[in-house]
Amino acid sequence: MSNIIDGNAYATNLRQTMAGEVAELQQKAGKAPGLTVILVGEDPASQVYVRKKGEQAKEVGFISTEHRLPETTSQEELLALVDQLNNDSEIHGILCQLPLPSHIDEKTVLNAIDPDKDVDGFHPVNVGRLSIGEESLLPCTPHGSVHLIKHALGDNLSGKNAVVIGRSNIVGKPMAALLLAESCTVTIVHSRTQNIEEICRQADIVVAAVGRPEMVNADWIKEGACVIDVGINRIQRDGKNKLVGDVDFASASEKAAHITPVPGGVGPMTIAMLLLNTLTAFKRLENLN
Ligand SMILES: NC(=O)c1ccc[n+]([C@@H]2O[C@H](COP(=O)([O-])OP(=O)(O)OC[C@H]3O[C@@H](n4cnc5c(N)ncnc54)[C@H](OP(=O)(O)O)[C@@H]3O)[C@@H](O)[C@H]2O)c1
Repeated sequence: MSNIIDGNAYATNLRQTMAGEVAELQQKAGKAPGLTVILVGEDPASQVYVRKKGEQAKEVGFISTEHRLPETTSQEELLALVDQLNNDSEIHGILCQLPLPSHIDEKTVLNAIDPDKDVDGFHPVNVGRLSIGEESLLPCTPHGSVHLIKHALGDNLSGKNAVVIGRSNIVGKPMAALLLAESCTVTIVHSRTQNIEEICRQADIVVAAVGRPEMVNADWIKEGACVIDVGINRIQRDGKNKLVGDVDFASASEKAAHITPVPGGVGPMTIAMLLLNTLTAFKRLENLN
């Protein structure tokens, strides 16, 4: 039976450690880290995410603010707000909640955020920094996944064979870059890959970021592997709504030595890493390193 990696417990621990550090740094800086979230429109899922982010930011001692704008906000108005926040010395992290209404070009808005305040880690400057191995604000979900892998396997991942399933800009590609930075031998597989199961069976570490419910089963997993399930899929089973990952947990956990559950694995790490990025940005912008 596998070790089930408890993302909730790990994230809670991390928030407690951050709260201690924030209290200390606040004395030195004379201010607390400021995280601001921009929400345009009334998307219900986005409202839940923004509320959770705000609550957890306050829990660690940040000044958490929100800018809730109507659906009719123009791109120019949104860019003017981003510019104002870029120049606000009390704000260290800016997050623009996606999706944005269709009349606004997401790329233009995300690219307007100061890369040093880009706590989502999506700005091309931060993507470039990650790919050339410079310090950067890292994309939250893959960064959280690396924390969980190290929690399970220890800090030294050098030489491990890692397979990332999925090549999106927000998960698959940065995940591969982070594992490469840890000196893993990394393979990315995707919808056009042939012999995908065979490739996954070679892996010491499998990261599934596909968006296909329970696609990865025991046949894909090497005995003793570490399996990280990024997927969040809402399905109907036995007449009930259920949240499942990209991994068939029941069968994969018979083979894996370590595995994340869904929910309660990678999910809670995403907000924890957003807070960690804000703390990192705060230390850099306030010269506290
Ligand atoms: N836990 C969290 O906080 C968190 C955060 C972000 C995302 N997620 C979840 O993670 C999952 C992936 O998200 P994403 O944004 O990366 O999704 P995405 O942009 O849709 O990318 C999915 C990737 O999976 C690949 N793929 C699709 N079908 C495949 C198949 N049958 N075999 C192999 N590869 C296949 C696609 O390949 P092609 O490129 O060839 O099309 C693509 O690269 C989703 O379930 C999402 O909800 C969770």
